[in-house]
This record gives sequence, structure tokens and C-alpha cells, in this order.
Amino acid sequence: MNRCVVGLQWGDEGKGKVVDILAEQSDVVVRFAGGANAGHTVVIGDKKFKLHLMPSGAVRDDACCVVGNGVVMDPEIFIQEIEGLDKQGISMDSRLFISENAHVVLSYHKLEDSLREASLGKNKIGTTNRGIGPCYSDKIGRSYAIRMADFRDLASLKDKLTKIVEYKNKIFSALYDAEPIDVDSVFESCKVYADKLVKYVTNTTKYLHEAIDDGKNLLFEGAQGALLDLDHGTFPFVTSSNASALGMAPGCGVPSRLVDDFLGVIKAYTTRVGAGPFPSEQDNEIGQLIRDKGNEYGTTTGRPRRCGWFDGVVVKYSAKIGGIDQLAMMHLDTLSGMKELKLCKSYIVDGVETDFFPSDAKTLEKVECVYETLPGWDEDITAISDYNDLPANAKAYVDMVEKITGVRVGVVGVGPGRSQAIFRN
Ligand code: IMP
Repeated sequence: MNRCVVGLQWGDEGKGKVVDILAEQSDVVVRFAGGANAGHTVVIGDKKFKLHLMPSGAVRDDACCVVGNGVVMDPEIFIQEIEGLDKQGISMDSRLFISENAHVVLSYHKLEDSLREASLGKNKIGTTNRGIGPCYSDKIGRSYAIRMADFRDLASLKDKLTKIVEYKNKIFSALYDAEPIDVDSVFESCKVYADKLVKYVTNTTKYLHEAIDDGKNLLFEGAQGALLDLDHGTFPFVTSSNASALGMAPGCGVPSRLVDDFLGVIKAYTTRVGAGPFPSEQDNEIGQLIRDKGNEYGTTTGRPRRCGWFDGVVVKYSAKIGGIDQLAMMHLDTLSGMKELKLCKSYIVDGVETDFFPSDAKTLEKVECVYETLPGWDEDITAISDYNDLPANAKAYVDMVEKITGVRVGVVGVGPGRSQAIFRN
């Protein structure tokens, strides 16, 4: 059985936990897009693991982990993650495979990200400053890119870096009046990265197809969420990769028809970090209540997340473009104790009601949400493991999510722990 788990909102839906649970039934866990902008938190007993680049399956020490070609690899952060896991007794030796075609994020990408954002003033995207956009730009531009395979040949890497740094310095100086960067220090860091990472670098497409031919179970793990997808999200307030399920095949070389189950992860409400339209946002005491109860602060940047009601128009759209088979709805427990709950079922755009998400940012700024209102519940649901034991109003909330989105909710999250997920199948 091959599964793909993706976020259907603006990221931070709780994919890490779902992947961690499903990794138990999987032989190989694959990341296929994004980079260290992502942040997965996995809670196991009293241990909390914060991962950015490593597939969440890593904390299951029998799962093999693949970082696909679609990922932009930040070697500095990745080495910290490998060493951090090792300190907690989790070794990645012989079970980590990094695509030789994955592009590498280096210090000048992060510098470019922050210089560009600072220069944009109020028009900034609100990136994570992890060098994601600049690295993907170099990938698309081709002439000034470094891939993991380049770490195998340090002499030619030095030549490439010399040309790249010369080119970047011209841009940094002309556009941002910034100090030049020094190629030697970039190269010295790369020597360390190569020393620690080359043993994991391989042809992951070949590895994955051999695993499929051997009948292994694969789990594909998305990063961010469909609304941050470069092509299908709320452009320009998106990330620079195909963060929806559509990014899976190009991001690892496995066609989506080999995936048996596309699982879309959502929160029982909506959050977003950074700038951009957010129709159901509650920039008021309701949003603050959700933020406090759900601990809605970014794993990567610590920024407070913007919070709002569940937006079914968003999820219906993301599920459609992703071919989603079922939903995993996280954080239902966060809504306990709220008197009444609203779910957006359609938008009014220029006086016309629609339930198809208009991803164009300008249109989104003027949409008006049409809500269903349901009564809340007071019970603590964090210890419930059987769906039938949920309060009637909580089940009615789940029913409404299914009705608005047209997709079945197969999993309900009732707390951060590994065991706090109700599987309805
Ligand atoms: P970038 O990916 O750092 O370029 O940031 C672009 C946009 O995507 C910003 O609005 C970020 O806040 C958002 N973003 C990137 N990664 C994540 C994530 O893992 N969760 C939520 N938002 C993210």
C-alpha cells in the first residue's frame, strides 16, 4: 500500500504526526518538496522532536527515509537534525537516502532571501528566510545551481562556487548595496557538508522503484500545504515549490498512479503564517483564543500564526486538485469549550455566491465568507479513542466538514500525542 500525506490548507496542519503514525505500516518515508522552511513536530511520550528537512518517519527507527529530488536541501540544518536524532539514540545510518539531484541551499541563498524581503517593505511575502525562493530560482535558472551530486567532486564544486559567488556578489552589491560574500568560506562549509553527507547521496528514483518492485510500502510526505503551492496556491503569497499533492511525482520520480491513498491533512480550523489573503481569518478575540489553545506559533520561525474559522471552500479545492481520498482532521480538541463554531461553506464574490476557490490573491481579498454555525461542546475529548464516544456536537462538526468538502474524514486528531488520533476505518 502506497500512501501520500499532504496538507490542504496553508501548512502546519499536523502532517508530521499523521506521517509518524502511518510510518509504522510503511517501509520507506519520502519527502518530495520544500526545504527547511517546513517544521514538523512529533511528540512521543515525553520527547518532542522538531524536524525541518528530515522525513517525519525518521523517529520510527525501522523506516527508511528518502529526501527526493524536489526538496531543496539545507546541509547545515540537515546535519544538525541527523546529529540531534543520533543524540536521542536514533541513528540514520543505512536508512537515509538523499537524492543526488536535490538542489542545495547555501548561505548566499538565505542572505538573498532576507535582503530581498527587506527591500520589499510592506510588499514582502513574509518568507521563513530559509533561502527557499532563491534556491528554487537557481534551480529553474540552471546556470548557477548546486546539487547534492556536486559534493562528490570538490575540485569542480570549487570552480562552480567561484562563478556563482562572483555572480551573486554583483547582484547583492547592485541591488542591495550589500557586502560581498567570500567564496572560500562558502567552500570551507561545503567541505564539511560533503564529508558528512556524501555517504547518503544516491539515485533515489532508482531506489524507490526497486522498493516498489520489491512490494515495499511507501509513504510520501508533503511539506507546507496546497494553498502555498507555487502554481495552484494564493500566488504570490506562496512558497516556491509544488506543495500540493501535485508535487509528488516530479519531486521524487514516482508517478501518482502508484499511490493507493491520498490523505489530506487539515486542521479543524484554519491558520496561516506570513502575508496573503485569508478569507475566514478572525483577527480578534476568537483568533486569539484559537492561537492560545492550539499553541499556534511557527515551528520554524516562532511567529504567531494567523487564525480563523474552518474554510471548506479552501479544503474542497485542495482536495480536488490533489485527488484526495480522505481527510485527517487534526486539532479537534482545540475547539472544545467554544460556545459556537463557524464553518465557511461558500464565498460571495462581487455579489455572486461560489463554492469554487478563486486562488487569485486580488479576488480573494474581496470575498465574503458564508458560514454554517454549529453549537460547540464543553467536554475534554483528548482521551477519546473511539469515534462513537465523541460528544454529539463534535460529531456534527465532523459531519459538516464532510458535507461542505465532499470528502470523508477518516482520521480525527484529539491531541498532540501519537496515540491521540481516532482512526474511523
Ligand atoms: P518561504 O517558503 O520561506 O519562501 O515562505 C513563503 C510563504 O510560505 C510564507 O508565507 C511562509 O510563511 C510560508 N511557509 C513556508 N513554509 C511553511 C510551513 O511549513 N508552514 C506554514 N507556512 C509556511
